[in-house]
Amino acid sequence: MANKILIDLKEDEKYVWKGKGDFHTKDGFIKEADIIEGKNPLITSKGAQFLCFEAQHYDRAQAIRRGPQIIIPKDLGYICSRSGLTRNSVVLEAGGGSGGATLFFAQLVKEVTTYEIRADHCEIIEKNLKPYELTNLTLINKDLAEDVANLEKNKYDLLLLDMPEPAKVLEKDLSCLKSGAFIICYIPSITQIQTITNYCEANETKLYIDEITEVGLRHWKVSGQIARPEHRKINDHTAFLVILRKL
Ligand SMILES: C[S@@+](CC[C@H](N)C(=O)[O-])C[C@H]1O[C@@H](n2cnc3c(N)ncnc32)[C@H](O)[C@@H]1O
Repeated sequence: MANKILIDLKEDEKYVWKGKGDFHTKDGFIKEADIIEGKNPLITSKGAQFLCFEAQHYDRAQAIRRGPQIIIPKDLGYICSRSGLTRNSVVLEAGGGSGGATLFFAQLVKEVTTYEIRADHCEIIEKNLKPYELTNLTLINKDLAEDVANLEKNKYDLLLLDMPEPAKVLEKDLSCLKSGAFIICYIPSITQIQTITNYCEANETKLYIDEITEVGLRHWKVSGQIARPEHRKINDHTAFLVILRKL
């Protein structure tokens, strides 16, 4: 879908236009035809100036209706590069949550299978992802820990676990993962990590602990004589990444 991002130059605010209809602002409206044509700058009916660009995942993530907290782009970027995802990769993830990570992967890789235990969260994911008409996504309303041992063998390149008790999946038969596949556990609290590392250390012929890390991001304000980190955005903690390899 041709989502576009509209940037209000006066307020320095960004909005996602969802592919249809005139766009209304407090300073007048912009006609649908002008947005589709996308000449910069766009001028509202009251003379305000907006820039218009094709929306990317980063912009779409802002528009995702939040149920559970999504994995934000700074972490998705590292997950993607660290696990070497390509257009041929096959990804398994749980839980689907709001579909934030699901949308990112499905636009990038060959195939995504998403498990989400809660039916109401599945509805949120379906609603959030419907506009994108993804044909490479299978969404399953089940507990991954119950199903993982029955999945097709030797299929997945990455297993992403963004759920409260990832160890419950790790303990199972993981033969659906290719040898050397990445397993990335997305863990908000440092105290949860030892459950995973203890299990891996006791099962060193099954899982190798490759890295435990956290991705930092610092936004800067640079304008005229000002050149400093942005106050409100410095080093927000999101989660730790426990990066494992399947032997
Ligand atoms: C923080 S959210 C995931 C957010 C998601 N990564 C995103 O970017 O939108 C965690 C989700 O895991 C689901 N969940 C918890 N245990 C699960 C399990 N055993 N199998 C599948 N989903 C599970 C929860 O219902 C919840 O929706």
